[in-house]
Amino acid sequence: MIQPVLACPRIATRKEGLELSRIIAGMWRLGEWDMSVPKRVAFIEECIAMGVTTFDHADIYGNYGVEHLFGEALRAQPDLRDRIELVSKCGIKLISDQRPDHTIQHYDTSYAHIIASAEQSLRQLDTDYLDLLLIHRPDPLMNFDEVADAFVRLQQDGKVRHVGVSNFTRHQFEALNRRVPLATNQVEFSPLHVAPMFDETFDGLQDLGVAPMIWSPLAGGRLFSSTEPQVIKLRAVIQEIADRLGQSFTSVVYAWIMALPSRPMPLTGSGRIETVAAAVAGAGLTLQRSDWFTILRAARGHEVA
Ligand SMILES: NC(=O)c1ccc[n+]([C@@H]2O[C@H](COP(=O)([O-])OP(=O)(O)OC[C@H]3O[C@@H](n4cnc5c(N)ncnc54)[C@H](OP(=O)(O)O)[C@@H]3O)[C@@H](O)[C@H]2O)c1
Repeated sequence: MIQPVLACPRIATRKEGLELSRIIAGMWRLGEWDMSVPKRVAFIEECIAMGVTTFDHADIYGNYGVEHLFGEALRAQPDLRDRIELVSKCGIKLISDQRPDHTIQHYDTSYAHIIASAEQSLRQLDTDYLDLLLIHRPDPLMNFDEVADAFVRLQQDGKVRHVGVSNFTRHQFEALNRRVPLATNQVEFSPLHVAPMFDETFDGLQDLGVAPMIWSPLAGGRLFSSTEPQVIKLRAVIQEIADRLGQSFTSVVYAWIMALPSRPMPLTGSGRIETVAAAVAGAGLTLQRSDWFTILRAARGHEVA
């Protein structure tokens, strides 16, 4: 059988805003993949060949080491930078041998920290600009005006092109978005974590025309490994639909996520290129409404009312 050529669609995260690949390669686990620099370059090239051009980072990933690993690949093949979009995050301070001055794990969304963290990400990634910088987690000490000022400063200096947030509630998103236009809210969502469909996160974003990014779409691998009875049943339900459609389990999960009208942009978390390919295949798959609700019922363990 001739395999169809995979081509990931592109998406504007908001009207006339930043354009990204619909599937985004998550780099959190890059340090665990044990890839040499040429292997990292090859992985990035294989993603690009499928149209997956957006790569998600955070300053803290891999004990503050992942951005550097990616930056080594960009240094080895400088023409990559113009063919990709780079996302990173700031605002969490971890206890780490890399940051001996941190005495307690905490958030920091001060003007000074946002600027310093973004500049450090640029150095680690060996680039002049980020396409998108996100505040990693909402911070109880967060001052919306101060965050907006830092974002605008970074944009005016050309260091960051677009700004956004992660793990924000609807209200937190809208409060900051009134001060500076936000490109996205990156949130956890999967058949094992359906809360954003029911707590107004997705409704609020859809209303504003802002596409969410989705982290842990495969529940961090628990969709495959969990021995909880409800997950075992859910796994069987998804597999049955996948077999009937002649698609992979992973493609069906990604299609289920991308069926939402808020236009989610799911991340991948795997270092195996075939998983990225399965995610891209999911972008071309439309589930019947009945199959979509069959997965929701299995995910929650009950019918809709
Ligand atoms: N904003 C935030 O707060 C936040 C939080 C967490 C993550 N993120 C971002 O989201 C990205 C994705 O998150 P994630 O890594 O948790 O995504 P995920 O896709 O839900 O989980 C990835 C894990 O699932 C495993 N997996 C995938 N396919 C599998 C299969 N067929 N069988 C068994 N295991 C399988 C992978 O192992 P293999 O590598 O062996 O395939 C990997 O360990 C991260 O890279 C990061 O960029 C953001």
